Amino acid sequence: MKSLEEFLSGSGAPADLQQLVLVLAKTCGEIGAKVRLGALAGVLGEAGSDNVQGEHQKKLDVIANDLLVDGLSSARVAVALGSEEMDHAIVVPGGAPYLVAFDPLDGSSNIDVNVSIGTIFSVLPAPKGKTPGDEDFLQPGERQVAAGYVVYGPSTELVFSLGSGVQAFTLDHAGRWLMTVERMNIPAAAKEYAINASNSRHWQPPVQRYVGELLAGKTGPRAKDFNMRWVGSMVADVHRILCRGGVFMYPADLREPDKPGKLRLLYEANPMSFLVEQAGGASTNGHERILSLQPTKLHERVAVFLGAKEEIDLVTGYHG
Ligand code: AHG
Ligand code: MN
Ligand code: MN
Repeated sequence: MKSLEEFLSGSGAPADLQQLVLVLAKTCGEIGAKVRLGALAGVLGEAGSDNVQGEHQKKLDVIANDLLVDGLSSARVAVALGSEEMDHAIVVPGGAPYLVAFDPLDGSSNIDVNVSIGTIFSVLPAPKGKTPGDEDFLQPGERQVAAGYVVYGPSTELVFSLGSGVQAFTLDHAGRWLMTVERMNIPAAAKEYAINASNSRHWQPPVQRYVGELLAGKTGPRAKDFNMRWVGSMVADVHRILCRGGVFMYPADLREPDKPGKLRLLYEANPMSFLVEQAGGASTNGHERILSLQPTKLHERVAVFLGAKEEIDLVTGYHG
């Protein structure tokens, strides 16, 4: 099996981007080691602090964030770091010309109940000739030079793309990342969908219509039955879709009409949309392609419909 180092050296990617991916992988390996020990490593439970999202931080949110900041800064593989857990981006003097935005621990509500969680990262080109700030992260997702995640599940998998398809690597006992999938792809047709159905009474009509047709199955206009899964960790749900197809939705809803959705554009929707498109799928906010959106703030939220192209085209079409 090809190692991550071998894949990267044969990828043609710039040496400093290869180095960045290696440091991300190494740091996520350290996060995974703590996740694996759970209570024994004292990483469960609340941190007793809130983040800029107004969410109660879990201990592992903070630990993972600190490991990534330390790892990326000390290796100087990026010149600025943005995180779900930090109000503003931090500058790394002398860092390589990349901006890294990350969700250090995705699926925090699953940490204490031993369900798969992950780390999501997005790599953007840094501005030339200036010290970067929050505003430099505000680039459309199609400008990403790399994006990926590590899912801490029954096995620990690194899934990422440098813009030439999506590869998966599995962490072995010796701490090596070995390629286990050469190219991930999402079939155009879906058999499975993911949405938090407890919000259904709050959905806008196009989502009501689309999910209603999935629920009607063989008896309705889709003339086929669908299965439903909702893990509550975007990384786990998107990983399933990259492995066996399907659709993932986190729509805006009427609970907070002025909020465009729960998920964050820069370090959840954009990296996942990059992977999904590289795997032959599609990703929109219900109206337009997510990777074309012009971000206006670091922690901007967005509605997300991603996965099987036929399904995303259909549900986006329902939005008029
Ligand atoms: P995070 O833990 O980084 O805040 O992300 C959680 C997100 C995402 O991973 C998941 O798909 C979604 O929240 C689940 O939301 P609900 O709990 O509302 O279903
Ligand atoms: Mn998240
Ligand atoms: Mn998070």
